[in-house]
Amino acid sequence: MENLLPKARQIEFHWLKLAKKQELTKSTFTLEFEIPPELSSHYQFEAGQYVTLRLKSDGNHLHKDFSMTSAPYEGKITLGIKINSEESFAYTLFKDLQIGDQLEVSEPRGRFTIISKPHEFRTIVGFAGGIGITPILSHFKNLLHTEPRTRLFLFYGNKTREQIIFKNELAELVKNNPDRLEIHYFYSQEKIGNGLFEGRLNEKKVALIINQILMLDDTDEESRIWDAVDEVLICGKGEMIKSIANACYEHGIPKKNIHFELFEEFNEDIYPVEKEFPLIENIAVDFKLFDNNYQTTLKNNKMRLLQQLLIQKFPVPYSCKSGICGSCECILEVGEVELLENEYLTKKEEASGKILACMSVVLSKNVKVNFDLM
Ligand code: FES
Repeated sequence: MENLLPKARQIEFHWLKLAKKQELTKSTFTLEFEIPPELSSHYQFEAGQYVTLRLKSDGNHLHKDFSMTSAPYEGKITLGIKINSEESFAYTLFKDLQIGDQLEVSEPRGRFTIISKPHEFRTIVGFAGGIGITPILSHFKNLLHTEPRTRLFLFYGNKTREQIIFKNELAELVKNNPDRLEIHYFYSQEKIGNGLFEGRLNEKKVALIINQILMLDDTDEESRIWDAVDEVLICGKGEMIKSIANACYEHGIPKKNIHFELFEEFNEDIYPVEKEFPLIENIAVDFKLFDNNYQTTLKNNKMRLLQQLLIQKFPVPYSCKSGICGSCECILEVGEVELLENEYLTKKEEASGKILACMSVVLSKNVKVNFDLM
């Protein structure tokens, strides 16, 4: 996950002992931390959340967020990590950390979560790309454990078969839940003799998956499995998420049921703006974030507020970029915006001036917002 340094200042860290380090593929590994009983209440978490690791290097603090692969019922914190280069934070962790070492680990957080419904018969679909499998693995283990009637479908893309991460763990899950879990693997750089499973996971693949895999439903022969999908979980790179989320939406899944977690900085809106607005140029923006006051100018209002601030490299918190998670919640103190969609704020909160920056189109020459809600 990407680095959000200022966010890390607001969160609680504790020293945890490394209990396990395991290499999975040439460039991925897991770390498992021991939670002492006196800290166990600080490390309760929901499936799909992440922690931040903090390291001191050359007198500087380095932070990086990593999703958990463990499910809450397992009572441990296990992280799945990818090494992108020898200069990366991940490489330092892999090279320098030994079992028994102590490391600063934040308390879990994140909004890539769904409400548990243990008594329902649900159909949940996951799309993962590469290391994006980590929070999805946590979700799937948790759903199989806590929702005995829910069925799950995972579509997992990697470059080649060799690069599949958590291959054994996923195979074990299918073996133990043959009637409730189906996994289909896709390869962008390997021919396997079946075009359906070759190439990237994108909108075209979603259409093929719906028509060729999620079709005849054994539980209701009159409909397709796709018609029964309750929630979609997507994790991977920005382009992949954008493409799959839009395809799912176009194929009838409401945006509030499409959950995603970005594993890289991605300065584009996930869903296109469907409405036209009067063009306003040179907008003065004044905002408060993590106790700092900033002033900047937006070229125009063609993009939403969050997107423009991210492009200007301001560390505004976000997760879903689609009005669902609330990470970018702020108060509009001066000016006018239109909130395109909102699945998070209550009517009362909206009336009190709260907005979601990811869904706000600015409609005045000046705006002042405050992200420090506490
Ligand atoms: S980033 Fe999720 S509501 Fe804005």
